[in-house]
Amino acid sequence: MRKLKFADQLENLMTKQDTPRKVRKAVFPVAGLGTRFLPASKAVPKEMLTVVDKPVIQYAVSEARAAGIEHFIFVTGRNKHVIEDHFDLAPELQSTLEERGKQAMLDVLAENQPAAGATSFTRQQAPLGLGHAVWCAREIVGDEPFALLLPDMVMKAATPCLAGMMDVYDKTGANIVAVEECAPEDVSSYGIIAPGEGADTDASGGFPIATMVEKPAIADAPSNLFINGRYILQPEIFDLLENQEKGAGGGIQLTDSMLRLMEIQDFSGFTFRGETFDCGSREGFLAANVAFALDDPDLAESTRTMLRKKLG
Ligand code: UTP
Repeated sequence: MRKLKFADQLENLMTKQDTPRKVRKAVFPVAGLGTRFLPASKAVPKEMLTVVDKPVIQYAVSEARAAGIEHFIFVTGRNKHVIEDHFDLAPELQSTLEERGKQAMLDVLAENQPAAGATSFTRQQAPLGLGHAVWCAREIVGDEPFALLLPDMVMKAATPCLAGMMDVYDKTGANIVAVEECAPEDVSSYGIIAPGEGADTDASGGFPIATMVEKPAIADAPSNLFINGRYILQPEIFDLLENQEKGAGGGIQLTDSMLRLMEIQDFSGFTFRGETFDCGSREGFLAANVAFALDDPDLAESTRTMLRKKLG
């Protein structure tokens, strides 16, 4: 009896060692200048501009929470302190809503509220590029795998992107990068991957990635699969980012460090099935507002009517 129990324990231990380490933390880089949204982004962070009635950042945080993330790390910069306020309690507002019996609004606030101690904020100090922003989270992430979500990329799907990636991660334990197809003329705006030879990019369990390149010219692009702003990365990326030289566009590029990490660790691709809106661009931001309004039961009809009228 005792022996059996020991054998069970041993098996449990071994299973635990075979299971990839849980992804508990997510990093949200929000230190960019957002020059494409000037003058709106001069005093208001672009991540706080609203898609219908939620700030852009809220979509990524909700997606992370739906995927089981427990700790939310924001890499911020000057002028970004309202992001911290947004994820804090607002006692005066709450008591006023309580006095007025506005339960539905209180519920909305509660559902978007991270638990005490579940958020961390660190400053990038200077916007030296996405890779540098991620590196700034190294002490808070520590020695464990983490999710990285670029909040500009707002997604709409039956299964949220990060949740789908977590399924692939649980099976592979690899670094995971979510990708989507883009028009050939758009490859120079994104990081582009090359699937491994013969890889089935539609496989629900993910597919191997051979290489990746940041913002290639159309002629040099190895595919039209762009990295859509969702990653699961192993902590070794921080050592590589530490010594990363400036790359495309003069910034410290995450893609360059991921390429070096590929030399020692596996990378899997996950093809996201859904709609992605690049809310870092004015076109994407407007499209997101229209799409989410058309999905909102209170706004769908009036939005449709308004669009019909405008378009004649
Ligand atoms: P972008 O490439 O959209 O740059 O950053 P940006 O500065 O925010 O915006 P524009 O191009 O001037 O309009 C992609 C993501 O990386 C973050 C941004 O906040 C955004 O979430 N980022 C970028 C940083 O956190 N730090 C940086 O140095 C650069």
